[in-house]
Amino acid sequence: MSARRHPAASAASPTYRVETWGCQMNVLDGERMSGSLESRGYRRATGEEDADVVLLNTCAIREKAEHKVYSALGVLGRRKQERPDLVIGVSGCVAQVESKEILERAPWVDFVLGTGNVEQAGELVDRVRSERKTFTALELPVESPVYQFHQIARGSPFQAYVTIIEGCDQFCTFCIVPFTRGRERSRASAEILAELASLTSRGFTEVTLLGQTVDAYRDPGEGFGLGELLRRAAARTAGLRRLRFITSHPRFMDDDILDALSRGQPIAPYLHMPAQSGSDRVLYRMKRRYDAAQYLDTVARARRAVPDLALSSDFIVGFPGETEGDFQATLDLMANVGFATLFAFKYSPRPGTAAARWGREQAIPDDVASERLARLLTLQEDVQRRAHGDLVGREFEVLVERADGRSQSRGRTPCNRIVHVEGEHLQPGSYARVTITRGLPNSLIGRRAA
Ligand code: SAH
Ligand code: SF4
Ligand code: F3S
Repeated sequence: MSARRHPAASAASPTYRVETWGCQMNVLDGERMSGSLESRGYRRATGEEDADVVLLNTCAIREKAEHKVYSALGVLGRRKQERPDLVIGVSGCVAQVESKEILERAPWVDFVLGTGNVEQAGELVDRVRSERKTFTALELPVESPVYQFHQIARGSPFQAYVTIIEGCDQFCTFCIVPFTRGRERSRASAEILAELASLTSRGFTEVTLLGQTVDAYRDPGEGFGLGELLRRAAARTAGLRRLRFITSHPRFMDDDILDALSRGQPIAPYLHMPAQSGSDRVLYRMKRRYDAAQYLDTVARARRAVPDLALSSDFIVGFPGETEGDFQATLDLMANVGFATLFAFKYSPRPGTAAARWGREQAIPDDVASERLARLLTLQEDVQRRAHGDLVGREFEVLVERADGRSQSRGRTPCNRIVHVEGEHLQPGSYARVTITRGLPNSLIGRRAA
């Protein structure tokens, strides 16, 4: 931790607000920072309240996400002119890689907290308030992580995220994550199982295991992988009804993990395994270390193990040098697999990554990338509409996530599809048998089974 003199802080009533942008990992970091603040007496500000401490928990994955940080900091800077005791912090992936720029462009920021330091949030805010200095905490850990998991302020009383592996060693040429999250490190399985048991004893029934390459997990002591961890978690966690894991890298999806998946409940029949592209040439340049045939082979193995498996993927369009033929190969792969859902993004150059250094000559014009993205999404909409139509008449167990008005509830199937349950207001956190009555492109409509 380093410190710099700072003029303003106050002992005003401590309320906080954490604004999280980014992936599930960042959401969990936000919950961990909230927990750290609450353990020191800070209270989450209600919607109407002007919080005494505002923490921007940032994402650096694409340029747009990053711009958002600086515009939000501009607004906070103006607010701080009116009330100089406001404490402003920046955490998350932009904080990790751009702390200097943040403090230069927004010198009213009181502390910058890296992705490896989230549990220090409460202590740092206390120090800003008492010492009136600017702090930065940016060390990236290399050791197997140990969490204070009893101190997490969870966003839901029944669904929880649990990190099993941090960081990433893949260095895909487009991706900033290895720089923002550091080297890959797996958490001890005993710690993970203890956290799961603690969650279910408090009423949590759905857990999602997290990692950038979650299937590369290795228990640091015994050396076993995700397959064995899933089997142990399923066997030893009483009360666990849904166990998920994201994100799987196609390279690490081995038969042992598929064996665990094939055992079913509580392990959910859902696999998020980003392909990124269907073109071998592009995959090679992305340094994904598989080709389209290997990806399709992994999909076929997964479907043999779990016939009802819902697969989802991420795709990048407009990667430097992507030709119309490369893009067609992506559409072919999509049509071939028939993803249950997918996330697609226009390529965005990220500082420090290999692809960003390849220069403007290979860049795909924005209008071409936009047009490809639109074509990809249209194809996927057709795929989903058809798949959802085929599900009419089927019955699923739905975990109710929220009530929508008086006569509708919204939840998810084990395969992670969104279902709007009509005619009833079901209790969030409850499970209901639901018969599908209609398929929409992005969700299903159903009624409680008789
Ligand atoms: N660890 C995961 C991905 C994490 S980032 C994996 O390996 O699949 C989530 C998604 O953001 C990626 O799958 C990719 O599709 C997208 N993404 C990452 N970097 C990007 C960039 N520079 N431009 C556009 N999309 C990007
Ligand atoms: Fe990024 Fe690739 Fe690591 Fe995923 S596997 S986080 S895309 S570098
Ligand atoms: Fe964004 Fe960092 Fe997650 S860059 S996607 S918040 S790992």
